[in-house]
Amino acid sequence: MNREELKAIVAKMTLEEKASMCSGADFWHTEAVERLGIPAMMVSDGPHGLRKQDQEADNLGVNDSIKAVCFPAGCGTAASFNRELITEMGAALGEECQAEGVGVILGPAVNIKRSPLCGRNFEYYSEDPYVASEMAGALIAGVQSKNVGTSIKHFLANNQEHRRMSSSSEIDERTLREIYLAAFEGAVKKEKPWTVMCSYNRINGTYAAQNKETLTDILRGEWGFDGFVMSDWGAVNDRVPDLEAGLDLEMPSSGGVNDRLIVEAVKEGRLKEEVLDRAVERILNIVFRYEESRDKTAVFDRDKDHELAKKVAEETCVLLKNEDDILPLEEKAEIAFIGKYAAKPRYQGGGSSHINSHKVTSAWDCVKDWGNISYAEGFRDDVDETDEALLTEAVELAKKAKAAVIFAGLPDSFESEGFDRTHMRMPDCQNELIGRVAAVQPNTVVVLHNGSPIEMPWADQVKGILEAYLGGQAVGAAVVDILFGKVNPSGKLPESFPYQLEDNPSYLYFLGEGDKVEYREGVFVGYRYYDKKKMAVRFPFGFGLSYTTFAYSEPKLSAERIRDTDTVTIRVDVTNTGSRTGKEVVELYVSAPDSKVIRPVRELRGFDKIELSPGETKMVSFTLDKRAFAYWNTDIHDWHVESGRYLLQIGSSSRDIAIEQEVYVESATKLPRHYTMDTPFGDLMNDPEAMKLLAPLMKIDFLEKKEDEDTTDAAAEAISADMKDAMMKYMPLRGAFSFASGSVTPQQIQEVLDKLNG
Ligand code: BGC
Repeated sequence: MNREELKAIVAKMTLEEKASMCSGADFWHTEAVERLGIPAMMVSDGPHGLRKQDQEADNLGVNDSIKAVCFPAGCGTAASFNRELITEMGAALGEECQAEGVGVILGPAVNIKRSPLCGRNFEYYSEDPYVASEMAGALIAGVQSKNVGTSIKHFLANNQEHRRMSSSSEIDERTLREIYLAAFEGAVKKEKPWTVMCSYNRINGTYAAQNKETLTDILRGEWGFDGFVMSDWGAVNDRVPDLEAGLDLEMPSSGGVNDRLIVEAVKEGRLKEEVLDRAVERILNIVFRYEESRDKTAVFDRDKDHELAKKVAEETCVLLKNEDDILPLEEKAEIAFIGKYAAKPRYQGGGSSHINSHKVTSAWDCVKDWGNISYAEGFRDDVDETDEALLTEAVELAKKAKAAVIFAGLPDSFESEGFDRTHMRMPDCQNELIGRVAAVQPNTVVVLHNGSPIEMPWADQVKGILEAYLGGQAVGAAVVDILFGKVNPSGKLPESFPYQLEDNPSYLYFLGEGDKVEYREGVFVGYRYYDKKKMAVRFPFGFGLSYTTFAYSEPKLSAERIRDTDTVTIRVDVTNTGSRTGKEVVELYVSAPDSKVIRPVRELRGFDKIELSPGETKMVSFTLDKRAFAYWNTDIHDWHVESGRYLLQIGSSSRDIAIEQEVYVESATKLPRHYTMDTPFGDLMNDPEAMKLLAPLMKIDFLEKKEDEDTTDAAAEAISADMKDAMMKYMPLRGAFSFASGSVTPQQIQEVLDKLNG
């Protein structure tokens, strides 16, 4: 339906009908207006499976939903670093929605993993905004290819569950732009999600639902978003101002209460009717877009999607340690599978994303008929206390085997929507189990099921560690194929694993005081902090091992010097130098070594995943534009590139840069000057234009070393050239001026400054 047709429908609606269109008809549907042929549209969670509820609706995943397929959660899909694969997963979700009559699936969830403790980290993608936005974009592209909408969420800065409906995320402008907005920006601009879900929290004091700057100025004005904004369930705080700020649809229904407020506000002249019309038009645009492309032939093929969930899970597993090539294991060997999660994997988190899986494949399901694999439960789930009998049984089993694989991780009760973790540890009983098994069995491998980093006090005692994240309902099959070498692991960490919680940059401020949460670490989130501090981490961002090896050739640059209005392309050949087919994630970081701005050491600006058979070489290329070199400048409120050298670093993790190339980027933008009499003289000395005008006015050579200077004078000797330099550099102009021995007036200087400030 085109704009004119939509406008014509809106014109026919009564004020009451329009107001009711702006809130849900119930928990999961938009309002229908039968007399005008406006159908209701169903929305459902999201993000990694379809949680379609028929009755007993709730937004916390408490009541049952239809049987569906649980794909790996965001934590895992991000680790795949495979855009095509996640687009395929998105397309499957879109097809499921078409088959079930769902118009919008509520996801992807892209909030930055600021602290390892956030309860919903398992749903989120990364500590890095580029990864988050690229993976979200991939999922959106897939879902929407089936003419089903997405709702990228939770906009904005919803990085903890604690007091999520009242807390204010206090974030400075640059950090907001470079980290928290950036996680949404690329996906919104490139893939045009049909809807955006606004979060519960406040941003710098203003509720996200009422934040005109983010909902309208940035989202629509700058990024070109043309769908509708819906509230998170219950996120509306004051209906009329929220609507004015750009929040179109309130979910779920307010039982008519807020609709009446809208009607009254229009009647009393407090709300312009055009504002309401605009919101209705945006909602109808999407409702009809879906309705007009309903695919009545779509089928929800659960078994087929289970297979896809397995394929995705294969790439979401990250091999973190493989000493002595303990993995892959021999299929015929006597092996002990230990730990409850071997038979009952932990594969998803709690809350609104919780899927009612139609089936679950555990690792034990896949191997129990082989005859050479034994199983012991090892620990009781959800408790810290060791069950001595289970522990002893596991240790005995491990002793007799050739190798032990322990399936451990975080219990359900640790990771959920609604609350945050209070520490970064695994339950004591699991840590103890790993330690005791490793003490009797040198060939011990740990498989981890968790949605966010954990402390690993036993990491040096075991030979292998495989991070399986929350890998969805087919995770067991994927893990077995990796353990026994049918599949070569290729995931990389989309987040750093610090040694301990206290190392994390948000540690000092996380959760905040009352409702005030200050993001004082600024842009130094995750590896941006650890790298700057040269701090040792357990496993760095971007890290992940393979059963094969890769070599990188010397890269080629399309230009050694560019203006920031141009692009530069870097190409590198990657060769599989091992003996197995494998996939490699090639990561491109940009570093600004000469920057005058406080910046991270390097930032990820590109990645690509390629598959290579043994001996095979493929070329990977990245094209970088201004944004790859820029930081957010709060003076011009825009992205800015400092003229200077930049290093393009290519490698297989943020701590393993294989090769680097230098490019000089020249800024096409002149920053405004704000010179005053208080400006340090050194700042002016660095500005050739300023010196050209000021030098003739002042005797500024008085601190330069003269040929005939009497260096035997002890006092003069004490004032080293460096000290003189520093004193001059940091002296405000008004001070330097006093050295000009009255040869120039303050007015003359001020005129020059005014001219420079332009
Ligand atoms: C969650 C959203 C979810 C919504 C509907 C809220 O509690 O924060 O992510 O989409 O409920 O279930």
